[in-house]
Amino acid sequence: MNKLTFITPDDWHLHLRDTPQMEAVVGDTARQFGRAIIMPNLNPPVRTCADAIAYRERILAAIPAPSSFTPLMTLYLTDNTSATDIREASDSEHIHGAKLYPAGATTNSEAGVTDLAKLDPVFEAMQKHGLILQVHGEATAPEVDVFDREKVFIDQYLAKIRSNFPELKIVFEHITTRDAIDFVRSVDANTAATITPHHLLINRNAIFEGGIRPHHYCLPVAKREGHRQALLAAASNGEALFFAGTDSAPHSKDAKESACGCAGIYSAHSAVELYAEAFEEAADFTHFESFMSRNGAEFYGLPLNQGSITLERREWTIPDSLPFPGSSLIPFKAGQALHWKIVGND
Ligand code: NCD
Ligand code: ZN
Repeated sequence: MNKLTFITPDDWHLHLRDTPQMEAVVGDTARQFGRAIIMPNLNPPVRTCADAIAYRERILAAIPAPSSFTPLMTLYLTDNTSATDIREASDSEHIHGAKLYPAGATTNSEAGVTDLAKLDPVFEAMQKHGLILQVHGEATAPEVDVFDREKVFIDQYLAKIRSNFPELKIVFEHITTRDAIDFVRSVDANTAATITPHHLLINRNAIFEGGIRPHHYCLPVAKREGHRQALLAAASNGEALFFAGTDSAPHSKDAKESACGCAGIYSAHSAVELYAEAFEEAADFTHFESFMSRNGAEFYGLPLNQGSITLERREWTIPDSLPFPGSSLIPFKAGQALHWKIVGND
């Protein structure tokens, strides 16, 4: 097979930052995807319906024309989020979820939730109003091993949220372990998960290959090869509750290549082609369209995109570096060859 044409895909987990950085990256996503769930971890975060609507306007202004790309907005849950905030958000056609960052879990999570037990009224309101909960599923207690944080979060928190709020729709974001896959499979159809291209393509060795590789550092951190294999199987075998979410997270070259480099991998530049590369390894494109373009829309209760996208088998090289205000941006797999290229977009 040398050509793939499928329904325009969506990115169910994306960091765009804000102007002016946003202007350097939003075009990459708009070129490939119909819609994206926009993460709210700005500094300060997107806490209210008004914040999200204003952020949406800034995104729309930054998208290079012509484009029909649609940003789908989310709220950032804090210790002070109220049931009223949730009701207002659910009344807006532009807001599609609220994101739970355990405080300290990742980039810009300082304002995140410090005590999950206090969020019960918020989860109750989300369940009642049908707002989707997006979860950064990592336990943050300092004694938890960094490679175990996802599993510990499932055992200590996620399983409880799941059973206490059975009608709440939950997206377990950027999963990295077989434990997360097993959890999603073991519960009901109200729980889904996004999978990133980098977690399908690298394991934790890539972070230490011949030295410390800051551009392979993200959170949740990549895990052992066996987990990567399990993710690839879950993505490629057509199960409806797994779908694409790049977690593309731009940070300047300087912020990444530092004594304390920040977490995040920029994959938006070639996101669809990176996913195709992963499916190429699985040697099965049967369910590529479901994973990229159908499963997420169905879980979010949104129509499928109208357009289509075409990829051709053709070797090309990802740029070494991209423009970024005040610095540069190193894309995932910079300087490396990919074997599928987008050739058309209708
Ligand atoms: C994300 C970021 O930079 O905003 N970083 C990351 O490593 N994935 C935050 C997140 O999704 O954890
Ligand atoms: Zn993210």
